Amino acid sequence: MRLTAVARNLQKLLDPKSLKTLDHYSQFNPSPLTIQQFIDFGRTASEEESFTFLKKELPVRLSNIMKEINLLPPNLLQMPSVTILQDWYSESFRDLVTFEDTDSSRTTLLSFCQTLKSIQTRHTNVVQTMAQGVLELQESHKVDNQTDMAIQYFLDRFYMSRISMRMLIHQHTLLFEPDADLNTRRIGMIDPACKLKSVIMEAFQNAAFLCEEYYSCAPDIEIKGQTMVRNEKGKKVGLSLVYPPPHLYHILFELFKNSMRATVETHGKAAELPEIEVLLAKGEHDVSIRISDQGGGIPRHITDHTFHYLVSTAPRPSMTPTKAPLAGYGYGLPLSRLYARYFHGDLILNSYDGYGTDAVVYLKTLTHEASELLPVFNKTSTRQYRTAIPTADWTDPSFTASRGLHVSRPSQLKKAA
Ligand SMILES: Nc1ncnc2c1ncn2[C@@H]1O[C@H](COP(=O)(O)OP(=O)(O)OP(=O)(O)O)[C@@H](O)[C@H]1O
Ligand SMILES: [Mg+2]
Repeated sequence: MRLTAVARNLQKLLDPKSLKTLDHYSQFNPSPLTIQQFIDFGRTASEEESFTFLKKELPVRLSNIMKEINLLPPNLLQMPSVTILQDWYSESFRDLVTFEDTDSSRTTLLSFCQTLKSIQTRHTNVVQTMAQGVLELQESHKVDNQTDMAIQYFLDRFYMSRISMRMLIHQHTLLFEPDADLNTRRIGMIDPACKLKSVIMEAFQNAAFLCEEYYSCAPDIEIKGQTMVRNEKGKKVGLSLVYPPPHLYHILFELFKNSMRATVETHGKAAELPEIEVLLAKGEHDVSIRISDQGGGIPRHITDHTFHYLVSTAPRPSMTPTKAPLAGYGYGLPLSRLYARYFHGDLILNSYDGYGTDAVVYLKTLTHEASELLPVFNKTSTRQYRTAIPTADWTDPSFTASRGLHVSRPSQLKKAA
């Protein structure tokens, strides 16, 4: 029944020829690129070469994730927001495969750039729309643990796929669109000398601005560690990394918002607020950024869930807010971790209940180790949507040793929190 419903859905969105093309592309694995490859490609490749790569790679990444959307629990697939989303993806897929057999004349290249721009615009609200779809499901159905696990598994892969496609599209348009700004040290989105302290300060100040708006106060910051290092010429310079600054900004902004909210909620507005402490370190392999707050910490039964989408201890703001909220969607941590993992970094939380929290961001120092991490649609991923959660084999039935986590519904968590 599930397959019929899915097939019907797809047939409505795609004509038989496009459906066949989708099947074809989804058989290829995405080709992950390293930051080094992005840089080399950006410095030396022509627009034509980029076009030739993208006209295959983008449909491959799109079709892989479109196939996975179809594996979602049938009642989630039927939610209005998910249908809208599938429609956007189908439209973009159709747009891209029109370039399949085209030459690379000037007109084609221009039209390809325009197509990428329109895909970017069409997909602007993908994150909110998918979140809305899950909320629609939660409001209209009882979501069991297995469905919840499948959704969490899917969202990580779906959003990672989106991050990666946006990266590819940005690289091409920033470098080759007719009014591309080439008078910059950046190579597309990547800054070969991304100054960590500047990104930290920008993220901190914007989070503090929001915090002031909500609580009329905000904690200060102290940056420690290897803020200044000696370059090859022995001159002292600010610590830098080869990285796309918007990704790092996204991660840090979310972490600062969380730390500020926790600090103000714990210490009250009147008292002197403890500073948020940032530690910077760069080794041969990893750059580490630790953000420590004294915001009371997170009890361990909640820490297990902080990386779940839509899990929040703040009241849920509107999906179309008039002013930017400080917290409440439960998307900050899981999305930030994806950004960190995208180039093989990571984000972890260490919390000390009753005291505070350390959030540590790890990024790769070496550009050839910073490789894209991409979801692949295959039998293994397909199985994940059907595998039942192992039945309880410990005295505490919510403890699932193989997954190392307690399985309890986010709604239960909200009540406990
Ligand atoms: N530094 C912190 N100190 C205390 N609790 C925290 C901290 N960071 C996260 N949390 C807890 O984890 C939950 C999830 O955080 P997350 O950033 O994912 O979502 P959110 O802040 O609630 O909403 P938003 O999507 O707007 O960021 C928070 O609601 C909060 O309860
Ligand atoms: Mg948050």
